[in-house]
Amino acid sequence: MSLAGRAALAIGLLLGVSAVAGAPPKAAHPTPAARYLDTSGGADWPGYGRTFGEQHYSPLAQIDRNTVSGLGLVSSFDVGGLNSATQPIEVDGVVYFGAGYSVIHAVDARTGKLLWRYDPHAAARSNQGLRLGWGSRGIAWWNGKIYTGTEDGRLIAVDAKTGKEVWGTPTFDPQKHPWYISGAPRIFDGKVVIGFGTDIGIVRGYVTAYDAETGKQAWRFYIVPGNPAVDKDETTRIAAKTWSGEWWKYGGGGATWNAFAYDPELGQLYIGTGNGWPWNRKVRSEGKGDNLFLSSIVAVDAKTGAYRWHYQCNPGDSWDYNAAMDIELADLTIDGQRRKVLMNAPKDGYLYVIDRTNGKLLTAAAYEKVSWGHVDVAAGKAVQRPEAFYPDGQTFELWPSSAGAHSWPPMAYSPASKLVYIPALHMSMTVHDGPDLAHWVPPVNAVGDGTNTLGAVPGQVPTGSLVALDPVTQKEVWRVPYPTPANGGVMATAGGLVFQGTVDGRLRAYDAADGKLIWSYDTGAPILGPPISYSIAGRQYVSILTGLGTTMAVWGPLIEKYGVDPATQKRRLLTFALDGKATLPQVKTVPRPIHADPDFQPDAAKADAGSALYIAHCVLCHGLAVVSATHAPDLRRSPVPFSADAFRAVIHDGLLKDNGMPPFAELSSDQLEALRQYIRTAAHDSRTAQH
Ligand code: HEC
Repeated sequence: MSLAGRAALAIGLLLGVSAVAGAPPKAAHPTPAARYLDTSGGADWPGYGRTFGEQHYSPLAQIDRNTVSGLGLVSSFDVGGLNSATQPIEVDGVVYFGAGYSVIHAVDARTGKLLWRYDPHAAARSNQGLRLGWGSRGIAWWNGKIYTGTEDGRLIAVDAKTGKEVWGTPTFDPQKHPWYISGAPRIFDGKVVIGFGTDIGIVRGYVTAYDAETGKQAWRFYIVPGNPAVDKDETTRIAAKTWSGEWWKYGGGGATWNAFAYDPELGQLYIGTGNGWPWNRKVRSEGKGDNLFLSSIVAVDAKTGAYRWHYQCNPGDSWDYNAAMDIELADLTIDGQRRKVLMNAPKDGYLYVIDRTNGKLLTAAAYEKVSWGHVDVAAGKAVQRPEAFYPDGQTFELWPSSAGAHSWPPMAYSPASKLVYIPALHMSMTVHDGPDLAHWVPPVNAVGDGTNTLGAVPGQVPTGSLVALDPVTQKEVWRVPYPTPANGGVMATAGGLVFQGTVDGRLRAYDAADGKLIWSYDTGAPILGPPISYSIAGRQYVSILTGLGTTMAVWGPLIEKYGVDPATQKRRLLTFALDGKATLPQVKTVPRPIHADPDFQPDAAKADAGSALYIAHCVLCHGLAVVSATHAPDLRRSPVPFSADAFRAVIHDGLLKDNGMPPFAELSSDQLEALRQYIRTAAHDSRTAQH
């Protein structure tokens, strides 16, 4: 830390005031909305993107390019449990976060002491158990309450002081639908809004706004049309003409699992919508039509939920592309004109800058390799290559893959540097039609719909990067390459810094102007969740959660070397400030051993059958190739597959259901045996490779 930095900090601490230049003093009792405004000064981080406009930007500047070298640990709190790849929030010196299946924690930021813990028992309350278990990616604060969605579809308000439930309401029927909520609720004007996600069964996406005090439903907006003969909602009236056939039988998709932003100036809510369901438009919509409002940004009236405008990024989505990545609002000068814009970097590899008064595209460019076509900015629409729809049994190499060039870990926009910082992924995949489309029926309980077949590109090693873009010129300003994908969400600050946690366990601070690494800290555990910053009594803090959980299952084998075993990786809330002197207890994570399995008899045919079942039922929680980087145990390291009885008790009979391991009562003895064989084979092969 520089001398000047030390002096500024000392003065700030002495006076007990914010050392941030130009920050207004904190009002004694700010209204809930005041804490979410861009003019708030940044003392708190009350919601997912901090403000309504969701820039993931802190206007605090005590920690800056010069002082950051003095940034040190202040407190650490061991979270334990399942998923911790989530973003915390902070209000009045208390940090809140939802770990595991939305277990809410309140922790004193300065001491790291737990104040309360609230468990919604989401796994126990789900019907057949959870078929997709991402866990929570974020929560929100409003007027003395903490809001969370749950894996079984409830929206819950908890008293921020006591941790007692105030109200809870189902947002869908978990007895009927294997859907889930992983995204953060967003709050504005006394309303709380939430969507849901899924890749199973029949899905017609919607978002619902509730009264924040009572939980009473205020409005609901459907993302895709229903059956025009029956459904009279606004979306069906506007959008049904962009669909063909009998899409409503399968739902159509549009599950909106992550992105919203509220615009207090225009009274609008922006919704980043989900992908088509089933994935392949040939099945969903007779191969025709744009299929509104899939893969779009939709603006609705925040009071009523009435449609205002939309911009569709990927008409006729057939690749699991969605526009559900974070939406960030800003005022930019483009061609000499001041514009109110929103920015979105969805899966398709482009950064879109859209006029939020009318939905018109202003600038767009690809920051990653793209093969599906391009965006015609003047025409304001995507120009898609016909081959990208994998016609006539053809195979297409799709850039970016269905994992996207950008996934849920949020980007950041700095109004100081005027740059956008995107945690990017570099990966393609092959895609072609699934088997026998003419006789396709929607699978009920399996992941993936079978209307297309995705493949890895042989020999390709996916990578990642942190890329800084000028949203006005769409020029790349700098890029930091990473050897793997799966790096964390981003925060920018007025101190000229960009913070990001990486899968190798480092929390890093880069110079926002040129991408130079200025500071980094070895947390000893992989990081995916985004950091936040806030101030208490004039001192600026940075907090982040370490550990994986809401991780993409495909990353497991790529990042195994970083110690991603869910049983041993350290899930912690870490808080930093200038002159922090705390030391981190025991940092290294050593995976559990893969035990010898002396009775194992290889049976390739059984293992093959088991592999298909594993992909359909287990992969999203337990990881590709049985390498887990998610919240569920690494099964190669589990003793359970050694015993057919134990295996049956866990998988078929639901012994661990309340902990989040769903029962699969529909699996036959042969199928269980095939699964067991596949898992033991994976363990055996890994052990052999190690020795
Ligand atoms: C929704 C996510 C999810 C799905 C899907 C899922 N699991 Fe699990 N599984 C879990 C979680 C979470 C645990 C840990 C439960 C606990 O801590 O008691 C677990 C535990 C297990 C265990 C016990 C491991 C041990 O050492 O304690 C086995 C075996 C297992 N799962 C196998 C499977 C198989 C096989 C499938 C597919 C048929 C499957 N799981 C599907 C989440 C899932």
